[in-house]
Amino acid sequence: MRIVVLTGAGISAESGVATFRDAGGLWEGRRVEDVATPEAFVRDPDTVQRFYDARRRATASVVPNAAHHALARLEQVLGDDVLVVTQNVDDLHERAGTRNLVHMHGELNRALCTSCGARPRWLADLVDAPACPACGERMLRPDVVWFGELPYELDRIERAVTGCEVFVSIGTSGNVYPAAGYVALASAFGARTVELNLEPTSGAVPFDVVRAGLATEVVPAWVETVLT
Ligand code: APR
Repeated sequence: MRIVVLTGAGISAESGVATFRDAGGLWEGRRVEDVATPEAFVRDPDTVQRFYDARRRATASVVPNAAHHALARLEQVLGDDVLVVTQNVDDLHERAGTRNLVHMHGELNRALCTSCGARPRWLADLVDAPACPACGERMLRPDVVWFGELPYELDRIERAVTGCEVFVSIGTSGNVYPAAGYVALASAFGARTVELNLEPTSGAVPFDVVRAGLATEVVPAWVETVLT
């Protein structure tokens, strides 16, 4: 049974990683448009670099939760029939053991060289303009997809979403496209759709199954039903 799982900030919330829209629209005390847009980076690169340096450091000190581990177990049993597409830029899915994974909004632990396009793994700060390991230029930015930029691996994701039998949406408010459109696409291609979220979201196309609750409770419970 081919399963595509879309995850958002809500799956990492109980690990202590801030979501985007729960704290009254502020994100780590900042307006998203002040730190997560190419314009913000041109206008005030140091603020943007410091914002992501702080999130990269914070992510290094949190750990995956039971929801991340349950998805890793699902892949352990079902293998390549499971693909996780995450909007998150933390590495908690990897650290829980998930391998079949797409970071459609990029990764905190990767830098992007605006000179040569290299995307090296990167765990240190970027604010002091280190040299790109590939070309030596001091033009590295966070490898995070900002508003107005193209997410990664859209073709691969669409092929998976249109070819799956079950589409599961976990911890995402369904506010940001193209991710927010995947439930309608999966449903149009005959998949059963499942939402596991703190509160039911009200998108254009309703989910076939909705289980409201904390990810650390509803995700392991759902994986249990799939594996037994
Ligand atoms: N368990 C399950 N769901 C939770 C939990 C939890 N403990 N805590 C919060 N949620 C749910 C919220 O109810 C909400 O629906 O997770 C969702 C988080 O929504 P957002 O904060 O909007 O995060 P997300 O959907 O991932 O945002 C998508 O927007 O800002 C951009 O690029 C950024 O990837 C991000 C994208």
